[in-house]
Amino acid sequence: MSTLPPPGVRHGGTVELSIAPRAASDADDDLLDDVSSTGTGPTGRPRRHIPEPPLLDRHGPARVLAVCNQKGGVGKTTSTINLGAALTEFGRRVLLVDFDPQGALSVGLGIPAHQLDRTIYNALMGQGVELRDVVVGTCVENMDLLPSNIDLSAAEVQLVSEVGREHALLRTLRPIVADYDFVLVDCQPSLGLLTVNALAAADGVLIPLECEFFSLRGVALLIDTIDKVRERLNPKLDITGILATMFDPRTLHSREVMARVVEAFGETVFDTVINRTVRFPETTVAGEPITTWAPRSAGARAYRQLAREVIAR
Ligand SMILES: Nc1ncnc2c1ncn2[C@@H]1O[C@H](COP(=O)(O)OP(=O)(O)O)[C@@H](O)[C@H]1O
Ligand SMILES: [Mg+2]
Repeated sequence: MSTLPPPGVRHGGTVELSIAPRAASDADDDLLDDVSSTGTGPTGRPRRHIPEPPLLDRHGPARVLAVCNQKGGVGKTTSTINLGAALTEFGRRVLLVDFDPQGALSVGLGIPAHQLDRTIYNALMGQGVELRDVVVGTCVENMDLLPSNIDLSAAEVQLVSEVGREHALLRTLRPIVADYDFVLVDCQPSLGLLTVNALAAADGVLIPLECEFFSLRGVALLIDTIDKVRERLNPKLDITGILATMFDPRTLHSREVMARVVEAFGETVFDTVINRTVRFPETTVAGEPITTWAPRSAGARAYRQLAREVIAR
């Protein structure tokens, strides 16, 4: 029997993740790129040309988008990071809000949020912390982050007894929305009070939807929650779009689910579809967006195309 530790495990039991070398060529991704050259996109609709978004001559106030789906692992955090980074390439100033106590958004940008003593939790609970002192820069120019860590899980309980508990995030963000063009709120996988806060603070909701059969089930409940928030808390709330993620153009299953999604939600579904590729887990380990990690990859191109659609909607 070998006495060596298994690969990836150091003495002492800490797991070491080896970072995949940065790809010299992103050509392998193109195999998974849209298969059709007939003018039909992966949604089955004709491809539309979305023009280059005009540059802005001044910034703010931001459009606030909640990236929301109560199912975990559907691409919320990945989409928040990469859409945010892609928006900056079009000259937009972006603030990402990590609104999941798991802190995956912060970690995905290489920020050790568990070591921070000032996070969005402190600003949200009005603990005399200035929001501007919580905002941190990221590796992407013009993209800032409001980090979070496990402290935020206490907010869900503590907010229950607050007056105006559903509007805590709206109040918290108010002083800085003027500084940005987009604020993207990465929600936790639940429809609890934190998510309701994100919906109450948002102008629009972006719903990532995994191209798997069971992922369709929860969407009705999510849309029901969005409708209630619109009626009771935030009349301007809109569904900006449904983003199909983890699409595999080679499988019939993926294509069938895609067809069902378009049938059910029509024009709400973005033309842009995010293919399943190992590049995304790699970027998490690298702690940077795919737009900088593998800038010419199909994944980077897809999030740039999504950014155009979001700006145009
Ligand atoms: N298009 C994709 N293809 C393959 N893996 C993906 C894709 N998008 C995200 N992932 C991976 O799937 C996992 C869950 O994604 P994540 O964005 O964290 O989902 P959520 O925030 O909804 O829980 C992560 O490991 C991520 O790297
Ligand atoms: Mg997440």
